[in-house]
Amino acid sequence: MTDGDRLSQLLHTLHQRYQSLREGQVADYIPELSKVDPDLFSICIVTTQGEIYSVGDHDHLFTVQSISKVFSYGLALEDHGRDYVLTRVGVEPTGEDFNSIVLDEASKRPYNPMVNAGAIATTSLIKGKTPVDRLNRLLEMFNRYIGHDVFIDVSVFLSERMTGHRNRAMAHLMRNFGMIDDPIEESLDLYFQQCSVLVNCQDLAIMAATLANRGINPITQERAIDRRYVRDLLSVMYTCGMYNFAGEWAYTVGFPAKSGVSGGIIGVVPNQMGIGIFSPPLDVRGNSVRGVQVCEALSQDLNLHVFDCQGC
Ligand code: DON
Repeated sequence: MTDGDRLSQLLHTLHQRYQSLREGQVADYIPELSKVDPDLFSICIVTTQGEIYSVGDHDHLFTVQSISKVFSYGLALEDHGRDYVLTRVGVEPTGEDFNSIVLDEASKRPYNPMVNAGAIATTSLIKGKTPVDRLNRLLEMFNRYIGHDVFIDVSVFLSERMTGHRNRAMAHLMRNFGMIDDPIEESLDLYFQQCSVLVNCQDLAIMAATLANRGINPITQERAIDRRYVRDLLSVMYTCGMYNFAGEWAYTVGFPAKSGVSGGIIGVVPNQMGIGIFSPPLDVRGNSVRGVQVCEALSQDLNLHVFDCQGC
C-alpha cells in the first residue's frame, strides 16, 4: 500500500466514523444559511506536491464566510504593509465570541483580523478606485488561491446585508474611533461579499495548501500572496482562527486553522498539506462539530501538531 492509499483510506474511515455524529446546529442568524442540508460532509487534503485526496460531498458549493478573513488580511498586508495594517487591526486573541463588540481599550483597534470587527477593518483597507475595482481585486485574489474563477452567492450576500445590524454597529463604532474610513457602507458591502464567495471543500483544501506551500498554489504553480506575508496569516490563524477555542485547538490539534459559520474549516500544515472540511452543524463557538473532530483525529493519526517531536 502506498502512502497515498493509506491517506485515502484514513479519510474514508474518518468520514464514515463522523458522518453519524448528530451534534451541533446549522447557523441561522443569516437566514439564507439555515436552508443547508446538515448531513453534507466532506474532507479533502491537498499536499504541497499537488496530490488531491477527497471524500464525501467535495464538490458541493457553499459560502466561504469567515475563512475569507485570512485571505483578505493577506491582501490588506500586500496593499499597505505590516506596519500600517497593525495601526488599524491588532494580532491579539480575544477569548470572546467571533461577533463580540469589543475594541482594544487603549489603541481602539479591533483585537485581530479573524473576528468580525477586525475583518471589517481589514476589508476596509483593500484598495481600488471604485467598489467594483475592490471587489474584482478580491475575487482575483481568490482565483489565484483556488485556481479558477469564483462567484458570489447573491442570496447569501443580500441576506447578510439585510440582517447584519451587529456588523454595521461595529463598523460605526470603529468609524467613530478612526479605525475605518468613509464610506463605511461600501466596506461593509465588500465584507459581506467576501463572506458570500462560493467554494467547495476541495477549493478550501487548495487554498490551505497554497499557504502550506509558502504562497504558491501547488496545482497551478501561481503565486497567490507575497511570500513575506504568509507567516502573518499563519500566525493569526494559529492564535485566533478558532475564536475562543483557539487555545485548546493550538494545544490539541496544533496547526493553524480557520473556521466559518457555513461549516467550513481550513487547516494548514506548513510544507506538508492543506486540509479542507465541510460540515454545516456548528458548536456553541461557531466551529463545525464534525470538522473539529476530524482535525483532532488527523492531527493525532498523522502526527501533524507543529510542535510534535515524535521522530525528531
Ligand atoms: O459576519 C458574519 O457574521 C459572517 N459573514 C461571518 C461569520 C463567520 O463565519 C464566523 N465564523 N465562524
